[in-house]
Amino acid sequence: MNVGSTKEKNPEKRISITPDTSKSLKGLGLNVLLEKGYGESLGYKDQEYKDKGAQILNDAKEVLSKSNLICKVSLPSEEDSNLIKENSHLIVSNYNPEKEKNLLKNKINIFALNLLPRITRAQSMDVLSSQANLAGYRAVIESIYEYEKAVPMMMTAAGTVPAAKVLVIGAGVAGLQAIATAKRLGAIVSATDVRLTAKEQVESLGGKFLTVEGSENLETKGGYAKEAGEDFKKKQAQMLENAASKSDIIICTALIPGKPAPRIINEKMIDNMKSGSVIFDLAVTQGGNAAYSETDKIVVKKGVKIIGISNVMNKLPLTASNLYAKNVFSFVRNLYNKEKKEFVINMEDEIIKNTLVKGNN
Ligand code: NAI
Repeated sequence: MNVGSTKEKNPEKRISITPDTSKSLKGLGLNVLLEKGYGESLGYKDQEYKDKGAQILNDAKEVLSKSNLICKVSLPSEEDSNLIKENSHLIVSNYNPEKEKNLLKNKINIFALNLLPRITRAQSMDVLSSQANLAGYRAVIESIYEYEKAVPMMMTAAGTVPAAKVLVIGAGVAGLQAIATAKRLGAIVSATDVRLTAKEQVESLGGKFLTVEGSENLETKGGYAKEAGEDFKKKQAQMLENAASKSDIIICTALIPGKPAPRIINEKMIDNMKSGSVIFDLAVTQGGNAAYSETDKIVVKKGVKIIGISNVMNKLPLTASNLYAKNVFSFVRNLYNKEKKEFVINMEDEIIKNTLVKGNN
């Protein structure tokens, strides 16, 4: 069986197969097919792939038409998808059935890794976690780059520089990594979340947890956030008005699965922030947690910079690809039956059932 991958369309910089995972795929008994110059933009030469057992073909067309399974970050274009053989399989990081249902009319099985169930067995494939972790880290780095002051406290003969105050909204995967990163860089960090279980995690990273007075725990049985009621939102806003005015950097990561991003940092809070402060809105593509945030722009309001980057992973594509490729490999290992030497769609497997968004079986 052939597993193939082609270069992504600009601006996506990530790839799905690295030289290391080529070797691992080969170890499963699969042939790895890649187009010429596949990993070049990330510094992976064709020879490195060949050394790990992959075959380099002339172009994307050849790879798509010869592969039984294609691994991608984004969905291929309609033109490319027409080249994929019937009954082949396609793995992508993200698939939105609402937006993209007409894109692939062919008989292809599409597996969307953003739909993986969050169960222990799927952890090694969990692309949302691996990528959000990096996003949380990078959000802090990007914010500090735009912040025109030093972050750690410095005591010098010329005077003392106070440590920057970082506030993190939402302490999930991205938020916890943002807390850890800001802490490592010497900031004074506080964070808030609607799930009270997050308190212990925030504190274990050295952050201060800001609890909304009299709030109940807004957590589902599956560990995700529930939508907050009006009373909670009002109390949260009151608490954050004070916290935001004292913050130098705010990292927004609040998300409720399947819903638009909750609006948490309002215009008034931004008005009261110090000039030179920075807000990074990771939720910008879901509508944003912060007022004024716009996709792929830095909006400046009264000296406060509000950053919205739609694909933070493009700022560290090598690390993101290395992790993504490992997620993809783990998924392929689960899909491939070594004895039968074929990909098996076992609908009793929760991982397969949840991720398969369009199939002909
Ligand atoms: P997650 O689900 O692990 O964390 C979200 C957290 O927000 C949860 O802990 C939840 O309890 C909390 N939350 C929900 N409503 C809240 C509220 N009203 N107040 C305070 N906290 C609240 O999500 P993850 O994986 O950490 O992703 C965070 C955000 O970053 C998402 O919007 C995600 O789409 C985005 N993201 C953006 C990337 C980019 O390139 N722009 C890359 C990766 C993630």
